[in-house]
Amino acid sequence: MWTDTAGSARANLGFYLDAYARADGPVVELGVGDGRIAVPAAERGRAVVGVDLSEAMLDLCRRRARQAGVLDRLTLIHADFRKFELDTPAALVALPYHSLGHLLTLEDKGRLISHIYSQIRPGGRFIFDDFLMTPALVAHMRRVELRAEYRTAAGADVLLWVTSLVNEPARSIRVVTWEDELDAEGGLARRRYRRLSLSWVEPSQARAMLTEAGFTIEACYGDFDRTPFSDRTAREQIWVARKPA
Ligand SMILES: C[S@@+](CC[C@H](N)C(=O)[O-])C[C@H]1O[C@@H](n2cnc3c(N)ncnc32)[C@H](O)[C@@H]1O
Repeated sequence: MWTDTAGSARANLGFYLDAYARADGPVVELGVGDGRIAVPAAERGRAVVGVDLSEAMLDLCRRRARQAGVLDRLTLIHADFRKFELDTPAALVALPYHSLGHLLTLEDKGRLISHIYSQIRPGGRFIFDDFLMTPALVAHMRRVELRAEYRTAAGADVLLWVTSLVNEPARSIRVVTWEDELDAEGGLARRRYRRLSLSWVEPSQARAMLTEAGFTIEACYGDFDRTPFSDRTAREQIWVARKPA
């Protein structure tokens, strides 16, 4: 629900669907989650290998694919994306939606990028996006935001909230979300918190990690409309890297 209600999720969907469609061989999505991107890609005829550490997310992905009638186009691997092994090297590995941020140290992120390099065929691509932590985004993340209102299967009214502790020197984010379940009078019946640690890299660090792993950088965009990255206007950092042929 948190992912589905984020504005940036809507923005990146078309970008990744297009990249998956253009790939001329096996497509792998790391941190496939509930199949938000992989299932529509499969509906467009593209086979996708999805890797995720969470069995619960893979179950949601399977359910979504089954409902769409495309389960046979997905191969789901339950693994840490730092260790996944492919039978056939990928033409495209994607790590969408700031998922690099789940690794909390620069060393770990660098190791992941080197491992991804090992699983891509010569000439294949690695595409990922990461937070671009501008003062405006920091201020936005620190706000308490009502993200959604919905009703549970049992009929309870729920408000979904989010805020974050952002530590700029450490480049770390502690995301706190909570669901308020309301009683018939609108009072608070139950509150449930979830917390998640993330971190981001500066564009210079992303560039250095890609180059060190052996990738050639084809493009860096500042938004999902493929506007070339510029410090003045960028809202994201979106990297397209290629393993030399
Ligand atoms: C922000 S979600 C992105 C989901 C999907 N790619 C999308 O764009 O909607 C990140 C996903 O990465 C998974 N994940 C986090 N750390 C992981 C790891 N070390 N190995 C594999 N998957 C991981 C989480 O379980 C979660 O499903």
